[in-house]
Amino acid sequence: MVRLLGKGNPNNTDGSTDPALKGAAVWAHRLQALVDRLLGPRESLDKRPMNVHEVTERVRQLIEAEAGKSITVTRDYDPSLPEFDADADQLTQAVLNIARNAWEASPIGCSLTIRTRSKRQYTLNGQRHKLVCALEIIDDGPGIPEDLMSSIFLPMVTSRPEGSGLGLSLSQMILTRHGGVIQASSQPGHTCFTLLLPMDN
Ligand SMILES: Nc1ncnc2c1ncn2[C@@H]1O[C@H](COP(=O)(O)OP(=O)(O)O)[C@@H](O)[C@H]1O
Ligand SMILES: [Mg+2]
Repeated sequence: MVRLLGKGNPNNTDGSTDPALKGAAVWAHRLQALVDRLLGPRESLDKRPMNVHEVTERVRQLIEAEAGKSITVTRDYDPSLPEFDADADQLTQAVLNIARNAWEASPIGCSLTIRTRSKRQYTLNGQRHKLVCALEIIDDGPGIPEDLMSSIFLPMVTSRPEGSGLGLSLSQMILTRHGGVIQASSQPGHTCFTLLLPMDN
């Protein structure tokens, strides 16, 4: 099932008297306000020199604590990646949202690979960078539903009954703020989210 909650005024439920519909509209309105606040220009980055593996190791510890034995994390790191200026806390949140999705898609047993690599002379958002960090989060779960693939980064798009649909839109916004981007590719048994992040800022 795909649930897509859009913007809207909670008092305008097309005249519906169905309390459940009205409740859903109020919920959607509140969430949209929250997204606007979280994604708005007010929240800025707290950039400091960091190594990307501080972020990936924190995410690994957090997801292992959350998922216990139902997750196996494999690390494939490029130890030569240099430090660069970024907001480690926000990046941790961005990566954790993606790792959590992978686990939630296959909670009985999830195999997760976290891979880091560098790319030289790479163009991101129309800007050429000498050095870009590629951080891949790969899982072996069922894959992203095909009808959802083109909209997963939009707020409030979710296939889970208890989902908010906010995780990926927040992650994407955090990467955009860093001058980066997140790409996704998926087929059953192999889903890969690639975070591309300039390291020459
Ligand atoms: N690794 C994944 N495997 C399968 N589906 C995924 C994966 N990552 C994201 N998705 C899909 O993208 C949707 C949106 O994710 P997200 O924005 O985090 O919202 P939520 O987790 O609240 O559903 C999920 O509901 C799921 O359908
Ligand atoms: Mg999520």
